[in-house]
Amino acid sequence: MIDPYWNDWLDLLIRWLHVVAGIVWIGTSFYFVALDNHLGRPRERRDVEDGVGGETWEIHGGGFYRISKWTVAPRELPEPLHWFKWEAYATWLSGFALLVVLYYFDADTYLVDESVRDISSAAAITLSLMGLGIAWLLYDLACRVLRSELLLGVLLLGLVAAAAYGASEVFSGRAAYLQVGAMLGTIMAGNVLFNIIPAHWELIRAKETGRKPDAAPGLEAKRRSVHNNYLTLPVVFTMISNHFPFTYGHDRQWLVLVALVLIGAWVRHFFNLRHAGRTVWWIPVTAAVAVAALAVAIRPDDGDGGGGPSRAVSAEEAQAIVQQRCVPCHSQTPTQEGFESPPGGVELDTLEQIESQADAIKAQSVDSKAMPLGNVTGMTNEEREALGSWISSLE
Ligand code: HEC
Repeated sequence: MIDPYWNDWLDLLIRWLHVVAGIVWIGTSFYFVALDNHLGRPRERRDVEDGVGGETWEIHGGGFYRISKWTVAPRELPEPLHWFKWEAYATWLSGFALLVVLYYFDADTYLVDESVRDISSAAAITLSLMGLGIAWLLYDLACRVLRSELLLGVLLLGLVAAAAYGASEVFSGRAAYLQVGAMLGTIMAGNVLFNIIPAHWELIRAKETGRKPDAAPGLEAKRRSVHNNYLTLPVVFTMISNHFPFTYGHDRQWLVLVALVLIGAWVRHFFNLRHAGRTVWWIPVTAAVAVAALAVAIRPDDGDGGGGPSRAVSAEEAQAIVQQRCVPCHSQTPTQEGFESPPGGVELDTLEQIESQADAIKAQSVDSKAMPLGNVTGMTNEEREALGSWISSLE
């Protein structure tokens, strides 16, 4: 295993790249889908005769832009011609590298949670990799077979549900969400690599050999690029989900994920319609209602309703639990292999430190099972309950 300090640097640099590449990729996706939705009829006859299918005006950075879209291609191949593909490739490659550095290098801690499923690191990594490949193959097959976008959407949601359920049965809570996000990200990058860019090459080759370009690949590319657009918000949620143990740490975490994926795509739909000139306010309204309903539905109970009176737990007992289950990592001098400094800056060596972070401890290890990470220290449910009782007695 790599020295934790250098691993942290790898994490920092790759994550930095990944976030920047992702911003650029999603930015272009938002931009071009909005641009397509903004296109109106070209004003000048000359342009129409030249093959321009749509045009729009924009103002940005101190100037006006007139943008025209040719359907299918201009008479002459323009030079230079700008492509948009490295945004996608760089995002996927850096994301995959991050997956390897953060989850595969120390799979026992990050990918596997023995209380979810007792599998070897090698098995978990293999399943994770297979998941990425299978996601693409199934999605691609569905696109080829189904022509109805509605049907396809329903089927894809079913696949997301199956992936979320499967991942939550195999991986640790936080890894499960990330796995689903990586699968969706792989579908998006696959669309660029295997469909959109080849369609563009077909246009170029047709122009070069002087034949009339076939419109079909371009239309399919457009379709895939719209799919990617709808996946952006869901994928971004999965990528930040690690911060929210009340989602991935819930008993029905896979359903929570399905709901958030659906809400994310729904919100995206609002913007796409709006850019095409239709503002449908009930979309954000229903999305907000859905988020509120979800928030209420998964709210952790405080332990004082139902379940009978909880037993009184002393500070000594609580600290002993934390000492045994958390402090191997969360200490100024961690003893857990692979940790050199307290992760997340959270130190739980003294009772004062524990008390001052009681809320965070509750969120991470009582309301959810996010901590101990991968439950490597083998915390039991009784201990979680006892810790919860003690924390609620503090208030
Ligand atoms: C195997 C090591 C390990 C053990 C054991 C462990 N943690 Fe953590 N903990 C981590 C890591 C790694 C992070 C940082 C996660 C991140 O950056 O996303 C973390 C983060 C946290 C955070 C901050 C979360 C945030 O989002 O800011 C809290 C609170 C926490 N742990 C509480 C606990 C508690 C309580 C226990 C014991 C019940 C525990 N941890 C056991 C490794 C561990």
